[in-house]
Amino acid sequence: MTFIDRPAAIGLDLPRRDGAAKVRGTAVYAYETPVEHPAYAHPVQATVARGRVTALDTAAAEALDGVFAVLTPATAERLASTEDRELAALQDDEVAFRGQVVALVVADSSETARHAAALVRVSYARAAHDSELRADRDDLYAPERVNPDFATDTVEGDVAAATAAAAAVVEQTYTTAMYHNNPMEPHATTARWEPGDGRLTLWDSTQGVHPARSAVASVFGLDEAKVRVICPYVGGGFGSKGTPHVNVVLAAMAARAVPGRAVRLALTRQQMFSLAGYRTPTIQRCLLAAERDGTLTALALDVVEQTSRIKEFAEQTGVPARMMYAVANRRTTHRLAALDVPVPSWMRAPGECPGMFGPEVAMDELAERLGLDPVELRIRNEPATDPETGKPFSSRNLVGCLREGAARFGWSGRDPRPGVRRDGDWLVGTGVAASTYPVHRMSKSTAVIRREGDRYVAEIGAADLGTGTWTTLAQIAADALGVGVERVEVRIGDTAYPVASVAGGSSGMSTWGSAVVEAARALRARYGAEPPDRAEASGSVQPADDRWAMHAFGAQFAEARVHLDTGEIRVPRLLGVFAAGRIVNPRTARSQFIGGMTMGLSMALHEHSVLDPRTGHVVNHDLADYHITANADVTEVEAHWLDEHDPHVNAMGTKGIGEIGIVGTAAAVSNAVWHACGVRVRDLPVTLDKVLPALEDLPGR
Ligand code: MOS
Repeated sequence: MTFIDRPAAIGLDLPRRDGAAKVRGTAVYAYETPVEHPAYAHPVQATVARGRVTALDTAAAEALDGVFAVLTPATAERLASTEDRELAALQDDEVAFRGQVVALVVADSSETARHAAALVRVSYARAAHDSELRADRDDLYAPERVNPDFATDTVEGDVAAATAAAAAVVEQTYTTAMYHNNPMEPHATTARWEPGDGRLTLWDSTQGVHPARSAVASVFGLDEAKVRVICPYVGGGFGSKGTPHVNVVLAAMAARAVPGRAVRLALTRQQMFSLAGYRTPTIQRCLLAAERDGTLTALALDVVEQTSRIKEFAEQTGVPARMMYAVANRRTTHRLAALDVPVPSWMRAPGECPGMFGPEVAMDELAERLGLDPVELRIRNEPATDPETGKPFSSRNLVGCLREGAARFGWSGRDPRPGVRRDGDWLVGTGVAASTYPVHRMSKSTAVIRREGDRYVAEIGAADLGTGTWTTLAQIAADALGVGVERVEVRIGDTAYPVASVAGGSSGMSTWGSAVVEAARALRARYGAEPPDRAEASGSVQPADDRWAMHAFGAQFAEARVHLDTGEIRVPRLLGVFAAGRIVNPRTARSQFIGGMTMGLSMALHEHSVLDPRTGHVVNHDLADYHITANADVTEVEAHWLDEHDPHVNAMGTKGIGEIGIVGTAAAVSNAVWHACGVRVRDLPVTLDKVLPALEDLPGR
């Protein structure tokens, strides 16, 4: 774009505009919204994984002082649409997964509601359930498409013939665990029906006020204009707040059941393990074949994963392998098992995150097999154009990331042999993996910019998940208007503002920023450099230029230490270099990259939702037992980026940075653990029980 010539606001290291309010505790989150006469709702959850509710005894709960209502399938209102069965709360007596909501208590305090929920007696007709994902199930099926709209299977060339003729072949099964998003702020809603006119206001913790409004309006059969969703701040989402879950429907139902009151509903941490989505476990059969010099000749990635029986979510795990490296013969497939489990959904970099684990460990195994440096192996397979579409890349600086990362990390002169470096009682190793994430631009977003006195106000229903939108959208608007950023005020997080897309797929800045630039251009075109007070113009995001393949890339380096006696694993150093387009704000960008890498470290070493197939229950459903990487685990995490100017992606040159930081991290860690101790851990998380047996046999031990 031609920004008006003045010192750019894009690129300034500005602090978050909402930072002080958050630090002081004055930023108001959904559950805390001040409302008159609040009531509190607490769900009752099924304790069987499949079956039917045969009786619900609510007498004890209803007799409790302070209980206003107990909603059950018999008493709850009928929803206008039950098409989305995840959202069709309390519409029938069927139980499709353990933890599904079977009743809802509304009371005058959260404590009373919770206590009353525990007094509801539920009887079930139990049915046999099946909650176990295995690759050898005979009921695996091919979904029609994979998220959001990719082909399920792809075949190019002849994988079998190329494999037979190859100098080296790696073929292994890699698995990633079930993971839960676990944002700090739980899924929470305050719901109020306005008396008389049937309008619904929702203060909801969401990644998109407009998409949330559409979903809720459709479930309740309301005109969208009658629903307002407000969400100025989100305490993390990672995709779990990208699509509305049942909690928002329950909050609205509860509020309608107690006229004159607003209802607050926050899921407990434990409830979030069954009601707020999660990342499906994956079983990835990955094959790589190559010539002696490392040139890849075949790649196959056959993925098995799970979905729920009531709603399909088909994660696109095989998709990144389609465009990552130059390889003529390729196959990718996705097969699903529909199980009696909670509904899976988005979690930071669905597809890319799990889908780069198998292939990037396999690349390391291939490098080992061929006696090649793993950085060099990746560079040798750099494609000239997108292998999947044949389109040129708008920019592709994976090689630059690998070289810059290798230099910063101190990769050169690395001894390729595993298990030979010791530092006291610790075995030391290093590993590398590549990252990628597509550049998404959503189709629907509009911004309005208005002159107010000496200032400009930009309004759009965008979201800030802690990512920096309040600040970065102002930077974009300032440059597009040709004014100082201090003259721009941004208003987001409310359906009262023009329509905005979900903060998902790392598309926020690229989409909303494009709309803001269009609005600024329109204002300038109409009024020139000094618009009169109250002058305003709107602009909408335009379709992306589809002549280009557009992706961000990165290289992740890890140092791992494995304790000789205990097998304890530490990662004292992570370093990522990213090519992710123009960086709007280095401060907020670094925080997103580092956050993604930390979440990747967490995936590599700690996180694992343990679903017991006997009960269909995630047994470690709290933060005491679901381990996440904490301060003591995170030492040096460094994020760097290449100064990338991509004129094709959008007017700002941004590629999206929210998700790429988690992609490849777990593979880099697993590769470093192998280099440290000689054990290939192909099933996440990398825990000490998986390396310990081999430590006994280390030479020179
Ligand atoms: Mo992100 S998982 O696309 O919200």
